[in-house]
Amino acid sequence: MFFSEIRFLYPFILLMFSSHILKDHEAADTDTITLGNHLNSSATIVSAGGMFELGFYQPANSTNYYVAIMYKNILEDRVVWIANRDYPVTASAFFCIGNDGNLAIRQGRIIYMVTDLQLTNANVSATLLDSGNLVFRDENSSILWQSFDFPSHTFLPGMKLGYDRRIGKTWSYVSWRSSNDPSPGNFTLQLDPGPEKRIVILNGDEIYWRSIRPWGDNSNIFEFPPDTRMNMYNFTFVSESDTAYLTYTLYRNDTISRFTLDATGQLRQVLWLENKWSLLNSQPRHPCDVYAYCGANSSCSNVWSSFCSCLPGFEPSTAELWNNGDFKDGCSRKNDLQCSMEGLGTSEDGFNELSNVKLPQNQLTLEVQSMDECRSACSSNCSCSGFSYTNRNCSTWSGDLINLQQLLADDISGTNFYLKLAASDLGTNRSTSNIRRAIILSVTVSMTIFGSALFIWQVKKKRDKRKGEGQDLLTFDVTMSPARTETKPAKRRRQVEHEKEVEIPLFSFSSVCAATDNFSFSNKLGEGGFGPVYKGKLLKGEEVAVKRLSRTSGQGWDELKNEAMLIAKLQHKNLVKLLGCCIEGDEKILIYEYLPNKSLDCFLFGTNAMLGLSWETRVRIIEGIAQGLLYLHQYSRVQIIHRDLKASNILLDADMNPKISDFGLARIFGGTEQRATTRIVGTYGYMAPEYALEGVFSVKSDVFSFGVLLLEILSDRKNTGHYLSNSLNLIGYAWDLWRSNKPLELMSTDLRDKYCPNAATRYINTALLCVEERASNRPTMSDVVMMLNNELTILPFPVQPAFSNVGSGLDSSQSIPEISQNKLTVSVVVPR
Ligand SMILES: *[C@@H]1O[C@H](CO)[C@@H](O)[C@H](O)[C@H]1NC(C)=O
Ligand SMILES: *[C@@H]1O[C@H](CO)[C@@H](O)[C@H](O)[C@H]1NC(C)=O
Ligand SMILES: *[C@@H]1O[C@H](CO)[C@@H](O)[C@H](O)[C@H]1NC(C)=O
Ligand SMILES: *[C@@H]1O[C@H](CO)[C@@H](O)[C@H](O)[C@H]1NC(C)=O
Ligand SMILES: *[C@@H]1O[C@H](CO)[C@@H](O)[C@H](O)[C@H]1NC(C)=O
Ligand SMILES: *[C@@H]1O[C@H](CO)[C@@H](O)[C@H](O)[C@H]1NC(C)=O
Ligand SMILES: *[C@@H]1O[C@H](CO)[C@@H](O)[C@H](O)[C@H]1NC(C)=O
Ligand SMILES: *[C@@H]1O[C@H](CO)[C@@H](O)[C@H](O)[C@H]1NC(C)=O
Ligand SMILES: *[C@@H]1O[C@H](CO)[C@@H](O)[C@H](O)[C@H]1NC(C)=O
Ligand SMILES: *[C@@H]1O[C@H](CO)[C@@H](O)[C@H](O)[C@H]1NC(C)=O
Ligand SMILES: *[C@@H]1O[C@H](CO)[C@@H](O)[C@H](O)[C@H]1NC(C)=O
Repeated sequence: MFFSEIRFLYPFILLMFSSHILKDHEAADTDTITLGNHLNSSATIVSAGGMFELGFYQPANSTNYYVAIMYKNILEDRVVWIANRDYPVTASAFFCIGNDGNLAIRQGRIIYMVTDLQLTNANVSATLLDSGNLVFRDENSSILWQSFDFPSHTFLPGMKLGYDRRIGKTWSYVSWRSSNDPSPGNFTLQLDPGPEKRIVILNGDEIYWRSIRPWGDNSNIFEFPPDTRMNMYNFTFVSESDTAYLTYTLYRNDTISRFTLDATGQLRQVLWLENKWSLLNSQPRHPCDVYAYCGANSSCSNVWSSFCSCLPGFEPSTAELWNNGDFKDGCSRKNDLQCSMEGLGTSEDGFNELSNVKLPQNQLTLEVQSMDECRSACSSNCSCSGFSYTNRNCSTWSGDLINLQQLLADDISGTNFYLKLAASDLGTNRSTSNIRRAIILSVTVSMTIFGSALFIWQVKKKRDKRKGEGQDLLTFDVTMSPARTETKPAKRRRQVEHEKEVEIPLFSFSSVCAATDNFSFSNKLGEGGFGPVYKGKLLKGEEVAVKRLSRTSGQGWDELKNEAMLIAKLQHKNLVKLLGCCIEGDEKILIYEYLPNKSLDCFLFGTNAMLGLSWETRVRIIEGIAQGLLYLHQYSRVQIIHRDLKASNILLDADMNPKISDFGLARIFGGTEQRATTRIVGTYGYMAPEYALEGVFSVKSDVFSFGVLLLEILSDRKNTGHYLSNSLNLIGYAWDLWRSNKPLELMSTDLRDKYCPNAATRYINTALLCVEERASNRPTMSDVVMMLNNELTILPFPVQPAFSNVGSGLDSSQSIPEISQNKLTVSVVVPR
């Protein structure tokens, strides 16, 4: 196929028969190699800022040496470039500028030429830059050669992926043979030179993976997962007649990140975070993403154990291979289309609807006005094998259907695809299809009955178990716990009312110990309210979060019962799910679903802050929190006031959907009447004035906390940070900006204008309404949800918020202690 000439570098080995004597000296403490000095196998040169070093790299368990550029201060997986991938040397080799002025590796009498330039003047030098680029310059500092033009397996910021035909360059990346063998492997990452400019990974000469999105102004060509990470990278696409390449830079100079093509053909994008490489993205992620994994005319599913199946009306082209798990021959039609055997058949070809699929690759797009027009465009063209229609976009396919993927029912990203089939393969008989429907219906009904019976039996079994010993957490089936979605709230409510007591599994302490490796430090996720939180691993590999209530907390049992009962009753996609608990002796432990992305504060203010949340993610988080809180206040059976809503209590799932956690503080509370409490539980900075000062709380105190949280999410600033302006806190700062008619200066600089100003202004306005001094002036959560969503609502103008100036209440010098963890039996602070 089109690329086989991308082996790189200069495999010229010169045998020198003169007994040349090394008279040059060692290069030391420098970033440059000049004529006359050299690097031996234990010496390195280091870039000026100390980011990279160049020296000899010896793979584990190998006697081979390679001249490599490596991260200086990272010890794990540190090689980014290799000069002599195909020609390893031994420990006696030197890296130097040879007599003819070229960069070379010399081992005894053998010289491996790293560069092969015709030089007139040998006054040249090679400097390692902080970008990881080794540049070879002449005396006038013009670049003669640079390592960035001869990529290895790592795509660093500043490097290119693509080609420039004017200068005959191709920037492509070749995997290692194995993780300990840098010699060129099977996989190549490059830009497909076709008109669509997709990124492809080749396995040998065959396409292994291909980006679904063609080249475009949207930079998601690597198909990043749906969240934040794009904000760190500034991708640039250049496409001219003879030149097309992709390059990127990082917005922050303290970020260390790269792409590598690993020996298994995976393109991995990693970030150095908390002393390890964190994987941000990898492609292909699933077998179904591998190009033509199931061959032509088949469908792939990442959930079925066999992955591949033929499309309806098709059968495996080569049954033996297919049955042995080799799918590459794909499937062919059982019956030819009418279209292709003119006039012979008796009935017309038709279409079979495949619902909720990820569409095959290589579509052609037509502009049509209706579904029927799209259908007839496909029917009337013999080479058309199927079509899909959404929003007046008509896509058709011809010939092989590659990478059609069947999605799960709850995956909403799918579309419908209409597959052209011969009438005999269609099953269009009304009667049969009705019968079939009837059968499906009755099967479904009986399955449902059976399922409910099973569920009741399970619940009963659990109840019986409760009387005896705790269950084993290790063998617990996370998916068996009550359904998380509240698709049928009415039914659920009835069900809850039916049960006098909420059933949650009770686990044995020994199984909790086993799951958390005896609460080992390495499993500790953090310190939540009331005690540390650990990660627990179940036998099947599922993970749970284990909150161990601190023994010193006297009220622990109450809190536990409170929290356990409340959470078990609440089912909402924006609330963290309680899976069970463990009470043995002094131990009071709650088991929650595990959320991999930690809490929101990490992304706003903490170590993950450099990942920068995108505007879309922020909007999703804001809306999710609002929905979760609205549910707590209004739609759950009992009204629940959270009382400690804050960024660290918002957890994020793998797709960055927010889930509110820590209901231990919430109280069952009837009506909306305000209550006074002697026990204040909350966090300074988020507490409404009436709650902080008088212990009076209501749903409106949560609304206040939500307002603070909203400002924090928009600005990436803590409410209680230090402010340069006269404002005391974020609320005051936001208010000052609002009054000065420049509210958008509040927005996080990470967003860099990549947000919707109208929506942002509306959010700030809403937040300021939420933090008003008088609780009665604050909106309710249902008002808030409407304000956030409805662009047409005209919002009231906010008045001066609470805590926004020195006169109005608390300032940080007053003695409301930092009470993020612990309950405080309040000695009420009254403002003078
Ligand atoms: C390599 O050079 C360094 C000085 O740059 C020297 O200390 C070291 O002994 C040399 N190693 C060998 C194996 O020659
Ligand atoms: C190196 O060899 C040792 C012993 O043969 C083995 O235990 C170890 O796993 C090997 N390391 C690598 C990275 O292959
Ligand atoms: C080589 O070039 C540098 C400037 O790049 C100059 O300072 C130096 O004197 C030159 N050396 C020789 C031997 O010409
Ligand atoms: C460097 O610049 C000088 C003056 O512009 C020029 O004479 C000389 O040829 C240049 N050297 C190289 C190697 O290009
Ligand atoms: C992104 O990169 C391009 C090209 O390198 C540069 O022109 C542009 O200023 C960068 N954008 C930002 C916001 O840094
Ligand atoms: C990063 O950028 C900041 C501000 O532009 C600068 O002060 C700092 O020295 C830079 N750090 C590095 C490692 O380049
Ligand atoms: C690379 O290709 C060779 C020969 O085709 C094959 O034996 C080897 O398993 C392949 N390696 C990978 C990682 O696919
Ligand atoms: C897949 O179906 C298309 C269209 O019906 C057909 O042209 C093609 O030959 C089929 N591919 C295989 C491998 O049978
Ligand atoms: C076709 O779909 C694209 C995105 O999939 C959309 O941007 C475009 O507006 C659609 N075209 C029409 C005519 O709706
Ligand atoms: C039929 O479809 C093929 C590919 O889908 C296209 O190249 C061809 O122009 C179409 N023919 C007609 C008559 O539309
Ligand atoms: C359609 O129904 C007729 C008679 O009911 C039957 O003979 C025929 O096989 C059916 N065709 C299909 C595709 O089911």
